[in-house]
Amino acid sequence: VPVDPFDLVIFGGTGDLALRKLLPGLLHRYADGQIPEDSSIIGVARDKQSDEDYRRKVGETLLRGIGDNEALKEKLPAFLQKLGYHALDATRDDGWEQFAEQLKAQGDRIRVFYLSTSPNLFVAICDKLRAHGLNGGQARVVIEKPIGRDSASAAVINDAVGSAFAESQIFRIDHYLGKETVQNLLALRFANILFEPLWNANHIDHVQITVAETVGLEKRATYYDTSGALRDMVQNHLLQLLCMVAMEPPAALQADAVRDEKLKVLRSLRPITADDAAQLTVRGQYRAGASAGCAVPGYLDELGRPDSRTETFVALKAEVDNWRWAGVPFYLRTGKRLPERVSEIVIAFKQIPHSIFEHSAGPVMGNKLVLRLQPDEGVKLWLMIKDPGPGGLRLQHVPLDMSFAEAFGVHQPEAYERLLMDVVRGNPTLFMRRDEVEAAWKWIDPILAAWENLRETPKPYTAGSWGPSAAVALVERDGRTWHEDT
Ligand code: BG6
Repeated sequence: VPVDPFDLVIFGGTGDLALRKLLPGLLHRYADGQIPEDSSIIGVARDKQSDEDYRRKVGETLLRGIGDNEALKEKLPAFLQKLGYHALDATRDDGWEQFAEQLKAQGDRIRVFYLSTSPNLFVAICDKLRAHGLNGGQARVVIEKPIGRDSASAAVINDAVGSAFAESQIFRIDHYLGKETVQNLLALRFANILFEPLWNANHIDHVQITVAETVGLEKRATYYDTSGALRDMVQNHLLQLLCMVAMEPPAALQADAVRDEKLKVLRSLRPITADDAAQLTVRGQYRAGASAGCAVPGYLDELGRPDSRTETFVALKAEVDNWRWAGVPFYLRTGKRLPERVSEIVIAFKQIPHSIFEHSAGPVMGNKLVLRLQPDEGVKLWLMIKDPGPGGLRLQHVPLDMSFAEAFGVHQPEAYERLLMDVVRGNPTLFMRRDEVEAAWKWIDPILAAWENLRETPKPYTAGSWGPSAAVALVERDGRTWHEDT
């Protein structure tokens, strides 16, 4: 369904996110006929260049990503014609008047400002947008993480953006919420009668959320080393996934109804204090090893600094203190340079109360619902069945397996494609409200403080392994193991 015509301004229009995610996403939406012809996309950055130069550079990058997708190749020239460029410096006045006039000349229509820049420019950009009267009407602003590095700095950013835009105009992106499987979790939980009666501490033993990456620092050393895995991944992506699993059914699929429920979960998370941080959390940092069959250096060598204590891996045990989840641990882990790129949520159900089978039938294993976010998006429900054949009754643990690509065979839209269109439509359901971001930080702050207090260096792990052995111990201590897809 096509959206209304819009103007989308990307601050940081020559940056990595714009070139790798936003513009390719927009090209897909355009090729699918969702972007009306009279829409425009304007890249903004400090360097001077013409519209033509910008189109050429973006065109080259997009073409490399398209591979042999003929349909996209065919649409590319027309898509590039929608692009324009404007050189602006958020800290100077030059060019802003003309930029504002150009946008206003389009009349009252949807205007999206995507702040794909360093957060320390958010205040200056928002001030300029307000000073030039670009914050009214159908204007929307999109901000990317990191939204602060603790609750105090997040509040400063939120205040600054909030001084130019109303909360209803602010879209805080967490791209994990745009992933197909995450939305499918809503469908699975709330469009089926099967799961809800079991979705609680009476029937669920524990939950695991894993976001494993094979990449290392990439080209983001400066950002990453001041952030670390807890701030970069857990505060946002993993906690958002936890909320989607743990929230109560919202009364309607309506933005505030969903966000109210997620907020309640964040506020119910049991604080991890200085006394239990050493028990409940594990920090790791990768050493030299191998990734995808190639030797890779350790974090400190990649960074070029021998003394960094930044964690590239976190595992932790969280608990949601409410009626539904009392006593059900949520084990979270994420890290760089792990053996494979895999993101999944595992709901591990309790054991049956009594087995009627003979010892020779083999063990009865607990049911598991595995939601795979990437790669190979899909859902697996692990069940016990009888081993087929004429022999005696032997039991087997097998998955009912639904791979989305196999079942539907269509291009799964990238998270950013969907989220950008949601911004244009003005639908904030999959975006974080200010209070959610701040509640997530309130839970993270004491963990950061406890780590600071402990002053421990992160535990080393070999690149290409599943993290420090302490992460295995974290779940094994409780008589459980990390899920393996076998
Ligand atoms: C980003 C983090 O938010 O998510 C990166 O800053 C991480 O460090 C990325 O690599 C992972 O996203 P995806 O969609 O590739 O799993």
